[in-house]
Amino acid sequence: MEDKRPEWSSHISFIIATVGSAVGLGNIWRFPYIMGKNGGAIFLLTYLLLIAFICVIPLCCELALGKLYKKDAINTFKSINPKFKFFGWLCIITVTLIPCFYFVVGGWILNYIWIFLSSKIPDNFTQYFSSFSSQIFIPVLLTLLFLLMTAMFPYRGVNKGIEKANNIMMPLFALILVILAIFAITQPGAKEGLFFMFKPDFSQFNKSMILTALGQALFTLSIGMGTIITYGSYMKEDTKIVKSAYTLICCDTIIALLAGIMIFPIVFSFGVEPSAGASLAFISLPEMFAKLPFSWFFGLIFFILLFFASITSGISMLETTVAAFMDNFKISRKKASVITTAIIAVISIPSALSFGVLSNFKILGKTLFDFLDYFTSNIMLPFNTLIICLIAGWCIPDFWKKVFGESFFGRVCNILLKFIVPIILIFVLVTGI
Ligand code: PHE
Repeated sequence: MEDKRPEWSSHISFIIATVGSAVGLGNIWRFPYIMGKNGGAIFLLTYLLLIAFICVIPLCCELALGKLYKKDAINTFKSINPKFKFFGWLCIITVTLIPCFYFVVGGWILNYIWIFLSSKIPDNFTQYFSSFSSQIFIPVLLTLLFLLMTAMFPYRGVNKGIEKANNIMMPLFALILVILAIFAITQPGAKEGLFFMFKPDFSQFNKSMILTALGQALFTLSIGMGTIITYGSYMKEDTKIVKSAYTLICCDTIIALLAGIMIFPIVFSFGVEPSAGASLAFISLPEMFAKLPFSWFFGLIFFILLFFASITSGISMLETTVAAFMDNFKISRKKASVITTAIIAVISIPSALSFGVLSNFKILGKTLFDFLDYFTSNIMLPFNTLIICLIAGWCIPDFWKKVFGESFFGRVCNILLKFIVPIILIFVLVTGI
């Protein structure tokens, strides 16, 4: 067991690690296609307003809970009131279920890296993707490989594993993203793509867009799963909460925007529908890369980009569960990592088979993969966030003063925390179900 709670070695390492958690498939894969499906710029505007004024509140709460209690998610809730321990467990269940579909996508990414590396680029990606994802052995094996690669870092510890991984991978990630975005804006369809992203068409605005934008914002900030509580608990004493929250939001949003700037010009240059959906990254984009000169190079770096994004997020998911198991079952970090990995492996195998042999195995009309995605993102995430806001707002005396200060700004945040954000979340939950 670790006797002393580890601490990030510097403020910048803390920011890089939280950005590494936040920036993931949610930014590079989900954000562009959701924006494509929801009318482009008008969605972006809605999303920016929500993330800056609404989602920042639960983000600050989680960071502050981590900093104040310096415990894993379960013990944080228990310290507030032993009756709340159950909510900590809900966070841990959520964050353990997410990798069970997220890492399947991680496995696909490994496969695409291999394709572009070995120059065995298929002619028809639509066909290729459906035949590859419906196989038995390769998707399962690659999912497990991705899981093992990710688990290595929490296994090695906060400073030697997690911090090091993020400090190396995140700068490389940013470099590749910038190269790809610069390349994209030199493509013939760049102007159209950028217009689609930045020129709002107000007639496209609708209510369901607000829900989608909010769900996306919570998912991308890794809120509602105890991850930010856990990363926050390794924070140094003098770290400022609100400032860190806005730094994280800015970095996450800039990266999501760069991902859009990288994708939409290419999409418009090749005449693909921007609303192509989830298949954008695994069918439309590789198809376009294959038509470019040096196709293997662009394809390869794009999937390496996705790999870095997903592994640094995956590390934070595993660490949340590992920290909780260590503290609650009083076991060593290594043992906790092995148990976490084993649980996720058992659930991700059937999830990886959802596109083939288990495609007829349905829960509430959805394959296991889709069910895990739907259940965690649309139900557990807003529910846990609601609980976190209610507990922080109503059950911890003067919480808002400690986090936001007693200024006018602090009072506004207090009203948001106690009333407005919970009401919006209840609305999201009810409509989501
Ligand atoms: N925020 C990550 C993304 O955008 C996903 C994530 C969820 C990370 C839960 C950690 C915990 O992909």
